[in-house]
Amino acid sequence: MSSDEVKDTLAIYVTGDTHGSQRYGRFSVDGFMHRFGTEAFPEQKDLSKDDYVIVCGDFGGVWETDRKRVREPASEKYSLDWLEDKPFTTLFVPGNHENYDRLTGCRDERLLGCWLYEKMPPEEKEKLRAGYPGKLWHGGRVRELRPSVLMLERGEIFDIGGKSCFAFGGARSHDIGDGIIDPADYPDERSFKRDYAVRREGMIRVKGISWWEEEMPSRDEMDRGRDNIRAFMESHERLDFVVTHDAPASDKQALGIDGTDEMSDYLESLRGEMKYGKWFYGHLHGNCMLYGNHYLLYEQIVRIDE
Ligand SMILES: [Fe+2]
Repeated sequence: MSSDEVKDTLAIYVTGDTHGSQRYGRFSVDGFMHRFGTEAFPEQKDLSKDDYVIVCGDFGGVWETDRKRVREPASEKYSLDWLEDKPFTTLFVPGNHENYDRLTGCRDERLLGCWLYEKMPPEEKEKLRAGYPGKLWHGGRVRELRPSVLMLERGEIFDIGGKSCFAFGGARSHDIGDGIIDPADYPDERSFKRDYAVRREGMIRVKGISWWEEEMPSRDEMDRGRDNIRAFMESHERLDFVVTHDAPASDKQALGIDGTDEMSDYLESLRGEMKYGKWFYGHLHGNCMLYGNHYLLYEQIVRIDE
């Protein structure tokens, strides 16, 4: 069978945040090496690379910051290789816990020029500006971590096994109540560490190390998403799937979650622009269904193509 042909038994599964490969930290119930192991996900025995598992953001497989070289640390390389060896293709939209500098390229020249990267040679900084290789895949742009581990860029519409899927990752972090520290605001590592030692007990994250402003979409990405939906709806009856990290504003209200923001407001505004079959999102760390076709997912893995 050529790679263009679609086999009859093609399957698409979707799940919520994985937050990296292992069970660790305060956020995660499990990582993708547990969730996608054969014990937790036995259905994979009948799958091939023509079948898909989609993660609704906070994938977390690319996280660590190396100050000297652009490389996957051994643990990340091992877990991404492990995923590549699985009998399915992994797709994910980015969340608010991803290292965007490494995924999609660092655009913060102030950060690149500060003490944090003073030992990184210029050719490595060029790699950091580039991120993982981008390419067109099934109608939209992706970042290729491995041939079968792909990040779906924001605002794109993909043909996934004959199903149309609008992808829009990202969300505003809420674990930043005590602020974000920008290394570039400090003249040297010593002054940064002195301040960090005082503030580290609080809910803080550090720009370029544990927080990236690209967790929220740019205006261009929002416009691109809306334009792509409008163009698609001119010639199609509906989208089959919408996959996002954040939830539309009205879903948050229905779930009793205070405080919507420009991300959830944007997603809400898209609802009026499109017809769609099912909408899947993560971020809120729960599993439930709203309105009969909106699904908040966390550790559950749900087959969605049937
Ligand atoms: Fe999360």
